[in-house]
Amino acid sequence: MTLAIETIDTRSLPHDRARAQVLARMADLQPGEALDVLALQEPTLLLQSVLAEFPLGFDFSPLKPGPGQWRYHICRRGPRAQHCVTDYLAWDHDRLDALLEAAMDHARRGKWPGARALADDFSHGLVRHIQIEEEILFPAFEEATGMQQGGPTMVMRHEHVDIQQHLRAILAAMRAEDYDAAERGRADLLGVLVAHNMKEESILYPTTDRLHSDESLEELVVKLMLG
Ligand SMILES: [Fe+2]
Ligand SMILES: [Fe+2]
Repeated sequence: MTLAIETIDTRSLPHDRARAQVLARMADLQPGEALDVLALQEPTLLLQSVLAEFPLGFDFSPLKPGPGQWRYHICRRGPRAQHCVTDYLAWDHDRLDALLEAAMDHARRGKWPGARALADDFSHGLVRHIQIEEEILFPAFEEATGMQQGGPTMVMRHEHVDIQQHLRAILAAMRAEDYDAAERGRADLLGVLVAHNMKEESILYPTTDRLHSDESLEELVVKLMLG
């Protein structure tokens, strides 16, 4: 659903023209449609322009970080989307689910270079998702609720360790072009990840949203997007 319909390569353009081209193309996207952008500059300035021009209009995720070259993903949000942790990180869960399914579909059909490229995007995205939760979201939740040791973020951090272990097994299977091993890795991963995401989307994210003012929530979501 949120896989890109197009990749825009802005690497040969000066920064201002690159930004203008991306913004113009974004204006044509329908809700749920997404672009991948290849750029020579890091995306902070572009994201600031996007937020100014289309408030609440897009979700944003870095795919491959620089330095030197960046690739990022921009998705038009649905009409009822809100700028809150629940909307943004649940969207990222869906985006990652779609990448894993696409990688497995390529592997099933023996298209290994494509499978590995999609699995790499999935891996980078999942590791980044875990990192922004542990470094930005969980501290915000812990500060707002006063729940630290023994609270839900401790359980989530433990599950992140298992999730990343299963992720490494999938990547190794993709490198070895072993579909059965990749399928086992996927089943093991989803055995943890589905319930993990559900707990985050039903408890941790909405609680964080509820305990922040509109202004501080906006700031938190932008931090997560750029993290
Ligand atoms: Fe998580
Ligand atoms: Fe998550």
